[in-house]
Amino acid sequence: MSIETIIAGVRLKNPTMNASGVTFTMPPLLNRLQKSEVGAVVTKTATKNPREGNKGPSVLQFSSDIWMNRMGLPNPGISKTIEELKEYDWNVPIVVSIGGSSLSEYFNNSKNIDIGELIELNLSCPNVSGGIICFDLNQTLNITSSIKNNVNLPVFAKLSPYTDIEKLKKTIDTLYKAEIDGITLTNTAPSLEIISILLPVNEKISNNLFKGGESGKALFGLSLRNVYEAAKYIEKNELGMDIIGVGGIETSDDVIKYILCGAKAIQFGSAAAGLYNENNLSSFEIPKKLCKGLENYMLKNDFKSIEEFRGEAYK
Ligand code: DHB
Repeated sequence: MSIETIIAGVRLKNPTMNASGVTFTMPPLLNRLQKSEVGAVVTKTATKNPREGNKGPSVLQFSSDIWMNRMGLPNPGISKTIEELKEYDWNVPIVVSIGGSSLSEYFNNSKNIDIGELIELNLSCPNVSGGIICFDLNQTLNITSSIKNNVNLPVFAKLSPYTDIEKLKKTIDTLYKAEIDGITLTNTAPSLEIISILLPVNEKISNNLFKGGESGKALFGLSLRNVYEAAKYIEKNELGMDIIGVGGIETSDDVIKYILCGAKAIQFGSAAAGLYNENNLSSFEIPKKLCKGLENYMLKNDFKSIEEFRGEAYK
């Protein structure tokens, strides 16, 4: 029995990886994570220039199931990110996540990448001005096709969660046209909280809003549905794109559900962010726990490989 998986031709010893930017934001932390049982590591989204990110609290947990962040893409810039990655020896594949606010920025960032096995294009950051890129199909086609024409690494596009499945399908058609290798579904959902309604006189409520990307278990069903619909559509139309599932994954049962819905690999984000940890696990122990449960499920059902049960939910 093996829990290895192959995404866009890249072999992973198991299907787990961290979600970009949550907890494991810098190469030293990714280096520590690779010493656990993780299948691949994913960098924080890098932009052309360094960004300080937003001031004030940028990641908050509002209930056991709801996390929100408005980090504002803090990162040291693509060149420094690459330089820092090169300080370590990597024994698992690296997924380099890049962002940008224009075609030329995405393009130049992708050309800078001379380390790693996969590129993840963040087309769905909810915290930058100019809107969420994947919702603009022209821009999506221009960015993804110019990158695919100029890099040799396989490219995944990370999308927002869709409530309109027809729009998700149109986006997949667009990515297929650009020959994108796979899709990461889903990023966080744009969200709002009011931090406190108990305000001193004269203070405005509008100063007390927390706008950001929502993650955690609250996102699970929406993300899983996106993976299910995308995988079914890709299989039916023989589009040959692989899916990485992400959104609300905390337990191995969650991982199994994503695989049953068609994901070839998964990412965990909020689960590693803090207060979760029913057994006092450190964030670094999460992949081991997910893999153990996955192995037990496969043993119990006599599955020799992930491919034996992947996608069963729509077959
Ligand atoms: C940020 C980026 C994301 O892609 C996301 O989903 C949430 C937050 C950020 O850095 O602000």
